[in-house]
Amino acid sequence: MLPSLLPILLLALILPSRVSSDSNPAASTLYLSETGTTFSLNIPNNSSDVYIYFSSPAYSWFAVGAGDKMAGSLMLIMYPSANNKNVTVSPRIATGNSEPTFAPEIQISVLPGTTIFNDSFVLNAICHNCRSWNGGSLDLTAVSQPWMYAFGPAIDLYSDSPEAPLRRHREYGYFTMDMNQATGLGGVPIPSTSMNGARLVGDVVMDGDKASVTHGILIVFAVLILYPLNVILVGFFKSMKFHVVFSIIIMCFILAGFGVGIYVSGEYNRSKHFTSAHQIFGFIIVAIFIALAALGGLVSRQRRVQPTPASDAPRKASTLELAHTWTGRGVWVLAIINGGTGLKFSSSPMHTQIIYALVTIAIALPLVIVYSIMWRRRRVKKEEEEEDRDVVLQAYYATQPKQEVYPAQGYPPQGYPPQQQQRW
Ligand code: HEM
Ligand code: HEM
Repeated sequence: MLPSLLPILLLALILPSRVSSDSNPAASTLYLSETGTTFSLNIPNNSSDVYIYFSSPAYSWFAVGAGDKMAGSLMLIMYPSANNKNVTVSPRIATGNSEPTFAPEIQISVLPGTTIFNDSFVLNAICHNCRSWNGGSLDLTAVSQPWMYAFGPAIDLYSDSPEAPLRRHREYGYFTMDMNQATGLGGVPIPSTSMNGARLVGDVVMDGDKASVTHGILIVFAVLILYPLNVILVGFFKSMKFHVVFSIIIMCFILAGFGVGIYVSGEYNRSKHFTSAHQIFGFIIVAIFIALAALGGLVSRQRRVQPTPASDAPRKASTLELAHTWTGRGVWVLAIINGGTGLKFSSSPMHTQIIYALVTIAIALPLVIVYSIMWRRRRVKKEEEEEDRDVVLQAYYATQPKQEVYPAQGYPPQGYPPQQQQRW
C-alpha cells in the first residue's frame, strides 16, 4: 500500500503550495485507506463554485456522486486522458441504475497540478455550477450530506471525451460529508491522506456486470461448444431424435442469452437504443437460428412423410435438408464473429479477446479439417461409384441387340438402382 501512496505524497511535496498552512482552504476529506484514494471538497463562502482535490492509484474510472442512490445523482467521474498523462473529469447525471449521462451544463475547469504520475491520478479542479443541478442540489448546511463513490473494473479506459463509455462498477459504497466544515476560504484543498469531515457509511459493496458476462457465456457456450458437439455426435450416432433434443437445448441457451442481452442493453448509453452493429447482427443471427429450427422441423416432417428407401443405400439429401445444413454452417460462423464484436463492444480486456480468438480457432480448425476429409472421401467414393456404374452399363449394353441404344422402358434400365448420394 505504502509504495502506491509514495508518488502522491511526493507530488504533494513538489507541487507549489497553494496557501500557507495558516490559511488553508476549508475542506472535508474522504480517505479510503484500502485503495489510497482521497476526495476533498471545498465550498468557497464568497462564490458559487466548488473546488475539488482528488488523488488515487489509477483505475479505469473512479466516481463520486451526490446523494445515496444513483437516480438523480450528479456524479463526477474521473478517468485517464487519451495519452494517459492527464485526468478527464466528466460530470454526469444518472436517471436510474444504469450508465449516467454526460451533463454539458455542468462546467468543470481542470487546474494546474492535475496529472497522472506513476500510475496515480492527481486532480485539482473547480466546478462552476455543481451546487444544484437538474434533479437535485447539495445541502450546504448539512453535517452529513449523503455521497457515494464507485470504482470501475480493471479494463483499459483512456479518453479525452466526457462521454467515454463506462463499464459498470466493480465496487461502490456510501459516505457522508460535513458541508459546514467544507465551507470557508475558497481554494483547492491541500492533499491529505486522512479522513476529515467525512464518514464512511456501511461496507463497500462488491459488484460487477454479471448480466453482461452471463449473456456472453450463454450464447458463446451454445455456439462454440454445444453446436459443434451436436454435429459431431449426430454424425457419430446418426440419430435424428438425438439431434432434435440436442438442438432444442442449444436453442434454449441461445434464447436465454438473447433475453439477457436485451436486459443488459438497457444498462449502457451505447446499447440502450439498440443501434450498435453487435446488437443488430445479434438480432439477425437469432432470427436465423429460429429459422434454422423451423427448417429442422420441416426436414423432420418431410422424413416422416416420405417412405423409407427399400435398400439401405445412402439417401440423396433433399433441398430442405441442404438448406438446413448450409444455414446451420453459415449462422455458426456469423455467431462466432458476433461473439468477437460483443467482446469489443463491452470493452473486454485484450487478453479475453485473444483467448476467445484462440479457442475459436482451436475448435473451428479441426472441424474444417474433418469436413474437408469427409468431403474428399465422399467425392472419391462418388467417382468410384460412377466408374462401377459405367462398367455395369457397358456390360449391360454388350448383352443388348446392336440397334437399341437404350432399353424401351427408359433410362436407367429396370432393376438398376438409382444414383445415390451420401449425406453425413
Ligand atoms: C456504466 C455505469 C454504471 C452502471 C451500468 C451502473 C449500474 C448499477 C446497477 C445495475 C446498480 C444496482 C446494483 C444492485 O442492485 O445490485 C447500481 C447501484 C449503484 N451504483 Fe451504479 N452504475 C454505473 C455507474 C455508477 C457511478 C458512476 C456511480 C457513482 C458513484 C454509481 C454508484 C452506485 C451506487 C452507490 C449504487 C447503489 C445505490 C443504488 O442502487 O442506486 N454507479 N449501479
Ligand atoms: C449471436 C449472437 C450474440 C453473441 C454471440 C453475443 C456475444 C456477446 C459477447 C461475448 C459479449 C461480451 C460479454 C462480456 O464480456 O461482458 C456481448 C456483449 C453484449 N451483447 Fe451480445 N451477443 C449476441 C447477441 C446480442 C444481442 C441480440 C443483443 C441485444 C439486443 C446483445 C447485446 C449485448 C450487449 C448490450 C453487450 C455489451 C454489454 C457491455 O457493454 O458490457 N448481444 N455479446
